[in-house]
Amino acid sequence: MRPGLKVLTFLLLLVLLVMCSGVHPCDARSGKRWSWRRSGSPSTSLLRGKGKAKSGSSHKQNGKGNQSPHQRPSPSTSSPAAPASPSGSPAPCNNGTQVPAMPAPSSGSGYALPPPPLRPPSTPAAPSSQGTVFSVVDFGAKGDGVTDDTQAFEAAWAAACKVEASTVLVPSGLEFVVGPISFSGPYCKPNILFQLDGTILAQTSVRAWGSGLLQWLEFTKLTGIAIQGTGVINGRGQEWWTYSDPNDDDAYYVELDKMPQVKPTALRFYGSSNVTVTGITIVNSSQCHLKFDSCQGVMVHDLTISSPETSPNTDGIHLQNSKEVNIHHTNLACGDDCISIQTGCSDINIHNVNCGPGHGISIGGLGRYNTKACVSNITVRDVTMSKTMAGVRIKTWQGGSGLVRGIRFSNIQVSEVQTPIIIDQFYCDKTTCRNQTSAVAVSGVQYENIRGTFTIKPAHFACSDSSPCSEITLTGIQLKPLVVPQYHLYNPFCWQAFGELYTPTVPPISCLQIGKPAGNSVLSDGDLC
Ligand SMILES: *[C@@H]1O[C@H](CO)[C@@H](O)[C@H](O)[C@H]1NC(C)=O
Ligand SMILES: *[C@@H]1O[C@H](CO)[C@@H](O)[C@H](O)[C@H]1NC(C)=O
Ligand SMILES: *[C@@H]1O[C@H](CO)[C@@H](O)[C@H](O)[C@H]1NC(C)=O
Ligand SMILES: *[C@@H]1O[C@H](CO)[C@@H](O)[C@H](O)[C@H]1NC(C)=O
Repeated sequence: MRPGLKVLTFLLLLVLLVMCSGVHPCDARSGKRWSWRRSGSPSTSLLRGKGKAKSGSSHKQNGKGNQSPHQRPSPSTSSPAAPASPSGSPAPCNNGTQVPAMPAPSSGSGYALPPPPLRPPSTPAAPSSQGTVFSVVDFGAKGDGVTDDTQAFEAAWAAACKVEASTVLVPSGLEFVVGPISFSGPYCKPNILFQLDGTILAQTSVRAWGSGLLQWLEFTKLTGIAIQGTGVINGRGQEWWTYSDPNDDDAYYVELDKMPQVKPTALRFYGSSNVTVTGITIVNSSQCHLKFDSCQGVMVHDLTISSPETSPNTDGIHLQNSKEVNIHHTNLACGDDCISIQTGCSDINIHNVNCGPGHGISIGGLGRYNTKACVSNITVRDVTMSKTMAGVRIKTWQGGSGLVRGIRFSNIQVSEVQTPIIIDQFYCDKTTCRNQTSAVAVSGVQYENIRGTFTIKPAHFACSDSSPCSEITLTGIQLKPLVVPQYHLYNPFCWQAFGELYTPTVPPISCLQIGKPAGNSVLSDGDLC
């Protein structure tokens, strides 16, 4: 055995030297071989000869046996090259992966000695760029822009769902037509990555939508789910936009061969935690583009959303019952609210976002149909708005209850915005709504450094008689009128709006009542929510 070992060690060293003499061979290898190793321990392949290895596992995980899985691209790391060791030394090339290339010893016992140059196991591949990869193409997706690839996506998901931190790959350069899909837990392993580099096109055949669905691509009940990449989700909503608002109470007739009345949100996350959406573009949704409902821990950044200014109800991002949400470095251009924050949201942080065209960033409408609404701790800062209808807005329906509290709008640059600052406790999307006494209370809203140009009114605070707005503070407001032919300019408006002017405003907003409304006890979440 001894001489055999020496020869083996020598051969090992030789191979490793060759492998490590340049970076590129390592790259090439890593692309082919690295993706199946995740679930095995670093030493799995070394032990293979002893029969301890889970040798079958790679096949199972690939779903397609020996097809080489695509390597997970890693846009966030500097280089997709070989698993980096911190030192940058060639050490990472010492790998169990190379072992199969060696002349196989007739007996496994040769592996019993600790192989000196191999390891260390603690310098494995960058974990963020590894994982079992399930490409939709390997599951039969054509990506020809015509064939319905829904089943292939479902199959890829079903396989990925079983493997922790696996990757579903939608490769670049292809266009996949898919109908409604639910990528759903709750029995999926955590931390699945959906690497979207190609284009996903919504099914435009009427049949795909049945009598109408609320969402097209849905991710539900997952722990740790990320969508990243350079790809596009195209809702092809043009067909739907010709229809009127489904929220409109007036029923109307849906013609045959036309899209159903209920329009789907393009991408929706429900009941999930640790959700990331980054890099991708979502265009032309028939309705809302991206929605988070009942999620905790959401990170959205470097995202682009766009649909025409005239496309109805095409919100950019819609948040509901979600907590700990961060949205930043994102461009939103659409036909409705760039971001809409609904009831049950708290701890929302939005910054470095461009909005426009669109209706601005809104909290609400809250309290519709006499419901209770609670929204707290929202920060919107370092945002630019261009040619939007509203800037930063809080809107509540008459008749609701609950509380909006702890809101900060800071460093908002507006340009040709119709009305940059709005609180409207009489929100109504029809010509008239029934007068009702109760209201969702609004308290603690800071506006600081809201600057730029408006085309209708600088600020509009319409608060309810029964529940006046309180603790509205204004600092560094500088808004200049811009005369455009189609609009009439108005002065600031206030009704039952109370708070403080920390600095003089341009124009003067003298209608804000300084101090607290009579009989106003300090409103708190505990009282009303
Ligand atoms: C969140 O999810 C990502 C991948 O989706 C994962 O890498 C990360 O560890 C998760 N973080 C937490 C705190 O669970
Ligand atoms: C989105 O819709 C508009 C209006 O129909 C169209 O001009 C544009 O090309 C569409 N964008 C994409 C990427 O399909
Ligand atoms: C909002 O922030 C305040 C102050 O930081 C904190 O006391 C409160 O618990 C937060 N509320 C929610 C619902 O996160
Ligand atoms: C609601 O009240 C306002 C102000 O008091 C009044 O002008 C309006 O006519 C009322 N609307 C309805 C539908 O009763």
